[in-house]
Amino acid sequence: MNSYIDLIEQTFEFPTREFGVDEKNTLLFNNVPLMDIIRQYGTPLKLTYLPKIAEHLENSRLLFRNAIKKFNYKGNYTYCYCTKSSHFRFITEEVLSHGGHLETSSAYDIAIIRELFRQEKLTKSTYILCNGYKQPLYRKYISNLINDGFNVIPILDNLKEIHDYAENTTTETVNLGIRIATDEEPNFAFYTSRLGIRYNDVLSLYQEKIAPNPKLKLKMLHFFINTGIQDSAYYWSELSRFIYKYCEMKKVCPELDSIDLGGGLPIQTSLQFKYDYQSMVDEIVESIAWICSKNNVPPPHLFTEFGSYTVGESGAVIYSIIDQKLQNDKELWYMIDGSFITQLPDSWGLNQKYIMLPINNWDAPYQKVNLGGLTCDSQDYYNSEAHSADLYLPIYNEETEEQFIGLFHTGAYQESLGGYGGIQHCLIPAPKHVLVDRDDAGNITTRLFAPEQTHEAMLPILGYELKPKEEGDTHELGVNAASPQGNRTKAFVAEEEKAEVVEQ
Ligand SMILES: Cc1ncc(COP(=O)(O)O)c(C=O)c1O
Repeated sequence: MNSYIDLIEQTFEFPTREFGVDEKNTLLFNNVPLMDIIRQYGTPLKLTYLPKIAEHLENSRLLFRNAIKKFNYKGNYTYCYCTKSSHFRFITEEVLSHGGHLETSSAYDIAIIRELFRQEKLTKSTYILCNGYKQPLYRKYISNLINDGFNVIPILDNLKEIHDYAENTTTETVNLGIRIATDEEPNFAFYTSRLGIRYNDVLSLYQEKIAPNPKLKLKMLHFFINTGIQDSAYYWSELSRFIYKYCEMKKVCPELDSIDLGGGLPIQTSLQFKYDYQSMVDEIVESIAWICSKNNVPPPHLFTEFGSYTVGESGAVIYSIIDQKLQNDKELWYMIDGSFITQLPDSWGLNQKYIMLPINNWDAPYQKVNLGGLTCDSQDYYNSEAHSADLYLPIYNEETEEQFIGLFHTGAYQESLGGYGGIQHCLIPAPKHVLVDRDDAGNITTRLFAPEQTHEAMLPILGYELKPKEEGDTHELGVNAASPQGNRTKAFVAEEEKAEVVEQ
């Protein structure tokens, strides 16, 4: 019977730039031998490969730089990162250290901005684009940032929000953006997005509330559609409509000089993924230039707020298969030491697919399996891929071997949706999180960002008291209370025992 590697090589062009297999038949992710990470940290394990973030940030710039050059476009491009995709400090710091700018969506984001400034990770010239439906606290924090001289552009999402910036700011100028409500894709439940200001209200908002106030300057129009940047009639027609609106507004509002194209650049969700990033960006830039020139309007500066594209491909979740359960003649379950519903909520709530690959045993024959999560919810499973209705993994002997698997490109939105370190279904703990980086010489470095969540982190949230441990207390709850390694795998323990023998 063919081995797992034969299956992959026959189905895809493999190895890829990101995935390969070493001589031990174990998986390399961006040339990082994942078995080494498993041996060091155990599973379940979330991993962020930090160099990917800079790579994609620079790619975004390159895509726009190429298009701007190709079409002799007269505006410039600014890359912003949409923090809601992943708020972690190691992500925002990585973005900022490569000269990226930020987009926020909540009052609590502003606390992050303040902290990053305190740590000198961002300066007052870093763009802070403030999106979202803003409650009073968010509006207040934005006004305070403006008063303190930060380079903030609040992007108006409704007609009332402007009042706060007109009344509560003390600077000479307040730059503003307007998010325009796009039409939803044809098969969506609603016709027009609830996010932003409807097309018909944009001009009157400007004429009645912005133009008469010498302090307020409309600098930017904002565009975002839910389906992301796709080569579809829907995307191109919404984009054109938006650019025509920009031209109309530019004629009455000379300060207007920028558009924000939002997020939506896709990521690889299958080894078969095909998307021509450069031609999409070329076509966007060319369309904007063409519509502007037709309307005798100078083309706007371009901003984007790529979230998924910035962080998605940096993330992976690695699990051990802890059991094989054959529940009838053909339904075989590989049980993981984690949960899809809590740790990869998009896979459950949106049927999102990720790249799923075994970490070891690539030389073994394979079989069709279903992956089962630890919660008791029957929906906590994963059993198909973007390119196939079936899922295959190596056959292994559970008595003598171990099997590890990884789900890749999971870096965006999973903590924002599923929570992190709180209370989740069946009290499944947040897995440990390891950051993988490269030093100046290109060597791999790893560090534990957070150990596996413990019961001590959960009980107070639920209102229980934590009894202080007394001397002679023999009652121990489990390894994660005692060890930051949490549920160490057999491979980890074996390595440790081997090391002890060598030391003796
Ligand atoms: C206003 C806005 N900008 C940017 C993004 C980021 O989108 P993506 O992660 O698809 O790049 C979102 C996502 O919801 C958004 O609502």
